[in-house]
Amino acid sequence: SGPLGQVWDDEMSSSMLGNRLRKVVRNYQAMNKYGVEVSGPGGVSSRPKLSGPELLCQLRDKAEVATLTSELQPFSSLPWASLLPSKPLTSDLGPYRSCAVVSSAGSLRHSGLGKEIDSHDAVLRFNTAPTNGYEKDVGSKTTIRLINSQVMASDDHRFLSSSLYSSGALVAWDPAPFSADLTQWYNRTDYPIFIQYQRYRRLHPLQPFYILHPHFEWQLWQRIQDNMAEPIQKNPPSSGFLGTVLMMSLCDVVHVYEFLPSRRKTELCHYYQRFYDSACTLGAYHPLLYEKNLVKRMNRGSDHDVYTQGRVTLPGFSKLNC
Ligand code: C5P
Repeated sequence: SGPLGQVWDDEMSSSMLGNRLRKVVRNYQAMNKYGVEVSGPGGVSSRPKLSGPELLCQLRDKAEVATLTSELQPFSSLPWASLLPSKPLTSDLGPYRSCAVVSSAGSLRHSGLGKEIDSHDAVLRFNTAPTNGYEKDVGSKTTIRLINSQVMASDDHRFLSSSLYSSGALVAWDPAPFSADLTQWYNRTDYPIFIQYQRYRRLHPLQPFYILHPHFEWQLWQRIQDNMAEPIQKNPPSSGFLGTVLMMSLCDVVHVYEFLPSRRKTELCHYYQRFYDSACTLGAYHPLLYEKNLVKRMNRGSDHDVYTQGRVTLPGFSKLNC
């Protein structure tokens, strides 16, 4: 750790968690709700550890950001196909020079990072994270908001009517079964993402709104598992990791705030709620611990930046020399 405080250790494992979280993680490692089939040899522990640059190239080559379009089966034969975008997200948005990904962590409170975050060309936020009233710490610009299907379906979040969702482009995702094709997923979503999507599009026809192809989340899951020495939770990556890789596909450089906790690290789950649970930072359902290990390994910024600003600096995929 040196003269600075401790920053995220890239070899974090479930054995370093407290009793309660360790049990929850072990449960999810065993449960396999989505029928994940792990490919390749079981003995992941003998695998050579990839360097940061090698990891970046692997992510670029093996995880492609894809979104649903109106021409794609089975959607093209459905009566509401025209509500879907005709082009994929990556041909409509960007490229951006410098980008910010704002995790929703409680450690953003009192960070004073708002001005810095807003200085980027594009800002990605997650789910129900507000800017109103929190501008000093998280800024006010929203270029893209990544939302999960649970938020879209919940009455509490008033997804269809709240102004929270009205700035920038929306990108939604829903956990699909691991080996499902689009038709199987369409008939068995975790939450009613397609019903809510149609409703929202009819109410707000001018706002760009994309749906992630579920291959993307499972490709990323495979990248995480292949680079870890222990079995990870058999659930999709967190929005934080999906959004980070999404922005690496659109931006020359990506700054991720408070994904790796700074000196302000806290059990406060979100900067916008009075709710405390270390699972928000360390993961329970999502393989968040392992996502953070990978992000730490890929970070091109300093440990000092992580410690004082909670800031990680990642290159965009277009800037890599693989
Ligand atoms: O909770 P929610 O998924 O909306 O938060 C957005 C993302 O921010 C999470 O998916 C996770 O990657 C990250 N996060 C975190 N630590 C927290 C809260 C959120 O790393 N305490």
